[in-house]
Amino acid sequence: MAANDTVRLGDHPEFQEHVDDLIARGVGYERAAGNDARGAAPPALLEALNGVRDPARGFVVLDSGPPAGGGRSIERELLSALIIALQFGDTVTENPREEGRPFFPVTVIPGDHGRYGGTAHDRTPPGPHTDASSLSRARVDVVTLHCVHPAESGGQTVISNGVSALDSLDAGLHEFILRRSFHRQDPYHKDDPTYVRRFPICQRVENRFYSGMSFRYHPTRIANGQRMKGQSLTAKEQETLRAFERHVTRDEFTAELRLKPGQTLMINNHFILHNRREFTGDHRLLERHWAGEVLEVD
Ligand SMILES: [Fe+2]
Repeated sequence: MAANDTVRLGDHPEFQEHVDDLIARGVGYERAAGNDARGAAPPALLEALNGVRDPARGFVVLDSGPPAGGGRSIERELLSALIIALQFGDTVTENPREEGRPFFPVTVIPGDHGRYGGTAHDRTPPGPHTDASSLSRARVDVVTLHCVHPAESGGQTVISNGVSALDSLDAGLHEFILRRSFHRQDPYHKDDPTYVRRFPICQRVENRFYSGMSFRYHPTRIANGQRMKGQSLTAKEQETLRAFERHVTRDEFTAELRLKPGQTLMINNHFILHNRREFTGDHRLLERHWAGEVLEVD
């Protein structure tokens, strides 16, 4: 998978002026911007975002670039990222520790050996996955990852195109991935089996954002969900899931990105699986946002 050309926000001065105007009026990304900021992206910028919906691509990288006066403004970068993310859907970020904040928390948990709170900040790679794979209360269409600063070393973001990989799966694995459903642990209710939901790994969906094959995959959520229902994965099932991961992360379906400060990666959460490399240091700060739709819960 070839890396995308980066979309430079500096090429869209009217958008930058709009963002600066909002900030001057005291509209920050933290709360007020919310869904009111929609509609602010000019047509040329919207066109540059088409890569997110394109099945052959599924992602874009935006670069805030330094403002005319020099120096970075995190407020400006995050408000820009938020406004652009809202072109795709509503904020559905679930942030229990700072309710209302559109980005997930990036705080270090004191006494937790310097590990970051929030699952994206664990140094151990989670494996290729889609976000919100166990949730039925919201659909996450676009995951936004904004780099405040990268890890000292490692921590690259790895993205894999599941739709591209699907057609070349061998017949047995293809059948398994499309037909077999798995119980999923809800990470917000880790010990409560009543929140466990069952989904196939891949199914066709049609919604206001996307029509096509859509993945719900997270190795830990599947393993824990199955265990919580007393149906722990068999060795054969574990091996089959690993074979799927090996296939989908083959070089031709995968890109590895080392995001620079001020860069924003937006990925189509339906068919782009993501992962990260191990990293060192406490300073891998990625602000994450979910855009999508709140769903009726049965
Ligand atoms: Fe994730």
